Amino acid sequence: MQGVPSKRDDAAGKDGARRPGAGEGTPRHVAIIMDGNGRWATKRSLPRVAGHRAGMEAVRRVVRAADARGISFLTLFSFSTENWARPAEEVSELMGLLKFFIRSDLAALHRQNVRIRVIGAREGLAREIVALLDEAEGLTRANTGLTLVIAFNYGARAEIAAAARHLAAEVAAGRLAPEAITEGLLGEALPSADIPDPDLLIRTSGEQRISNFLLWQSAYAEFYFTPVLWPEFDDAALDEALSAFAGRKRRFGGL
Ligand code: FPP
Repeated sequence: MQGVPSKRDDAAGKDGARRPGAGEGTPRHVAIIMDGNGRWATKRSLPRVAGHRAGMEAVRRVVRAADARGISFLTLFSFSTENWARPAEEVSELMGLLKFFIRSDLAALHRQNVRIRVIGAREGLAREIVALLDEAEGLTRANTGLTLVIAFNYGARAEIAAAARHLAAEVAAGRLAPEAITEGLLGEALPSADIPDPDLLIRTSGEQRISNFLLWQSAYAEFYFTPVLWPEFDDAALDEALSAFAGRKRRFGGL
């Protein structure tokens, strides 16, 4: 069955090898719902956009920390398909921050051997953003260090529906038998097919929801919720999550 890693595989990179810095209980793939930027700003009587800017600093910190700890894949939920419902000014600020982040950090990430992957719909994004996302993926494609997966304009249900549409079209064209559609085949039809399932899913800010993030891929993820607001998420907060993960017993439905 696809997508059920053994404990032995934890911390293995895309080539299956453990990355430098990874210990026995280091998760191979950590995914984060970065929540609480707005509340962080409001607590300081600042506009919400100030929270997102501080959130970008936390992104930089966690990428460095994840890399240093030998994590192979780090997925960050940066903009959801539902975030379009926010006021236009905030949407525009979030788009601007992504552009700023790629323009200012791409060269350094590339030097750090970070491979960037983007999941989420390209449709609906400005051409300039699509070009930057393509550039980031293209430049870092052959890198062998941490894979930073940016979930941008991402919605899990939409991605599963797109995979189902693709398989249905294959059936309609006579290239696929309905009985041949397995969990493995559906998983392979997702854009994240080459990325292992997350081992640890963290959500900050005290909320305990999955909010349409990696629904298929998180079937066996360990969940970790922390009250820390995203702009305050630092190395110590990551270490706490990693140590909670190391203490979990994963059974993948077995005994
Ligand atoms: C949730 O906080 C956070 C977001 C909707 C966006 C996350 C974006 C960043 C961390 C900025 C930069 C990212 C990159 C990759 C450059 P919220 O606004 O929902 O907080 P609230 O629940 O307190 O209102």
